[in-house]
Amino acid sequence: MPEGSAVQRMFSGIASRYDFANRVLSLGLCVGWREQLVAAAQAAEPKTVADLATGSGDVAFALRRDLPADCAVVGYDFCEPMLEIGRVRARQEGVALEFKSGDCMRLPIADASQDVVTIAYGVRNFEDRVKGLGELRRILRADGTLLILEFSQPSAWFAPFHFIHVRCVLPVLAGLLTGDFGAYKYLGTSIAGFPDAAGLDAELKAAGFAKVSHKRMLFGTVALHQAQA
Ligand SMILES: C[S@@+](CC[C@H](N)C(=O)[O-])C[C@H]1O[C@@H](n2cnc3c(N)ncnc32)[C@H](O)[C@@H]1O
Repeated sequence: MPEGSAVQRMFSGIASRYDFANRVLSLGLCVGWREQLVAAAQAAEPKTVADLATGSGDVAFALRRDLPADCAVVGYDFCEPMLEIGRVRARQEGVALEFKSGDCMRLPIADASQDVVTIAYGVRNFEDRVKGLGELRRILRADGTLLILEFSQPSAWFAPFHFIHVRCVLPVLAGLLTGDFGAYKYLGTSIAGFPDAAGLDAELKAAGFAKVSHKRMLFGTVALHQAQA
């Protein structure tokens, strides 16, 4: 698993180009995946939502747009330059959305205080996944819902294409788009080394979640996990 400070440095370096690169590299598909996460959050009818590893706030803005005004939505990240992009966007668009500094290894959030916790493409970057998943469990209410959107391992027939894409095509394309070849080489390595959906479900159970399920998307390359205590 990557060192937290290295992940922080890497996202600081690409913060200004992150949103653009994301849209291009996923061919816009990331928008549909995010909408599925937001729909699942809506279904839980929460009053408090923490969007962790929020980055520049793509998920947080979508949650704010689709959840009632009396539901508190706060985005947390440990990378200030990413948070600052979210804050500037919130000011420019007149959206009442708060962005706070917070490391998923020790979140500045009270025990059992959140109805829904969301995290998109963050868990893969955790320095210590056991500790991080434990933190997500700690801040959720007993009847709360955790939603994780993350890259995953594809079906066997698609694996060779996926391997070539994440190991060769993606790092070069992303490097050209952002000027940072190293960051996207890491992306390929981290995707390839992440557990499959069943494996992450098992880790969630070990972290204290009793009910876990997932939905695989794009031949299993991405998965939306849902977990409840
Ligand atoms: C790939 S970006 C995802 C951003 C956003 N969730 C999205 O969907 O666009 C990953 C984010 O996770 C953050 N991150 C990684 N590890 C973290 C940790 N331990 N605590 C807080 N944020 C973390 C990074 O700073 C980065 O902003």
